[in-house]
Amino acid sequence: MTTDAPLSILVIPGALRAGSMNRALAHAAVGLAPPGTTLTVHELHDVPLYDGDVEAAGVPASVTALREAIAAADGLFFCTPEYNSSVPGVLKNAIDWASRPPAPPLTGKPTAFAGASPGGFGTIRSQTHLRQVLQFTGADVMAKPELYFSRASALFGDDGELRDQEAIGRLEAHLAAFAEWVRGRRT
Ligand code: FNR
Repeated sequence: MTTDAPLSILVIPGALRAGSMNRALAHAAVGLAPPGTTLTVHELHDVPLYDGDVEAAGVPASVTALREAIAAADGLFFCTPEYNSSVPGVLKNAIDWASRPPAPPLTGKPTAFAGASPGGFGTIRSQTHLRQVLQFTGADVMAKPELYFSRASALFGDDGELRDQEAIGRLEAHLAAFAEWVRGRRT
């Protein structure tokens, strides 16, 4: 693979609600894709709770779709809220499914993230835990830059979309840095 070949990035929001700021971030990212890069959002609404008995009986189609989408992407970008100082269960659950053998698609996958919170810490505790979890799966997690949106409610319009120009610029720059870093991982 050449370093300037097109890049595909799978964007996974760690929230389900319609008015989620983090889902809005994920969808805003699609329109801010760096040159030569395609971003696709993969939602988690259909992913059931991990259950080893269900897995043994046959992996659900929604989980197979998630795993295949991760496997096909050159990179993964999570947009995560912070729940009780950590990763929301919805996202942790999806990572748990994606970490399972055979051929867990997270292994070696270039990964980065961002998050928005109405509070002052901007999901820093959630992202710290997400980094720890992903590193255990063997994902290749970008160390820097980091992207936290604190007091984030003000950054979104009445329609729920990301409207703040500085925030849009920060997200765009983060995606550009991630794309460049993913290209640098190619041999
Ligand atoms: C929260 N929230 C929250 N915020 C934060 O900054 N740190 C935290 O530890 C928590 N804990 C927490 C727990 C639970 C169960 C909920 C439902 C919420 C608030 C959270 O940041 C806020 O609801 C965001 O709007 C959630 O992100 P979305 O849905 O807007 O993407």
